[in-house]
Amino acid sequence: MKNVFLLLTISFFVGCEDDKGNSEDEKMAEDIWQEIQGYSNWDQTVDWTDIKSSLDGTHGNFVQIWLNQEALPSFEDSISTDLPYGSISVKEGYSSIDGSSINTITVMKKIEGFDPDHGDWFWASFDTNGDVNKAGSVSSCYNCHISGIDYIKFKSH
Ligand code: HEC
Repeated sequence: MKNVFLLLTISFFVGCEDDKGNSEDEKMAEDIWQEIQGYSNWDQTVDWTDIKSSLDGTHGNFVQIWLNQEALPSFEDSISTDLPYGSISVKEGYSSIDGSSINTITVMKKIEGFDPDHGDWFWASFDTNGDVNKAGSVSSCYNCHISGIDYIKFKSH
């Protein structure tokens, strides 16, 4: 009986480990959601201003990308080195070019020591109301982004 209980307990905790990460990851994503409020007033790069066609349509055929003040200097020419810690990039994905409906809001934040094997990026995706869909060291995110310079995809070519 004791073993059955143990098994149930273990499977409960394993079951919680989905792409939302653990509760710590989810909490961090919620903090990042607060931190990015007002991002549509953040800077964009010259060649990725306003809504653009996505390179691969992962988060919608059209996207818009913003950078915080930490990330921005790395994009002034073309990025060739790692971004500084504290860098955040926010991307909205849309189905149509007018951006009338947002499919998802994806965020990357570089946090010292968070995930050294994958560029120390924290990955998160949100609904427009801030509900967390994915959070933490999300392999589906970094496995695609690994081809970018320091995992940044939009300006690596
Ligand atoms: C199959 C490939 C793929 C996957 C999976 C993917 N992305 Fe991206 N991502 C891209 C591409 C390509 C871009 C460049 C913009 C565009 O063309 O849409 C991009 C851009 C971004 C950007 C803007 C900064 C940059 O790197 O260009 C953020 C933020 C982002 N993705 C977050 C995420 C998050 C969070 C996940 C996981 C939930 C994720 N991405 C999964 C391909 C992917």
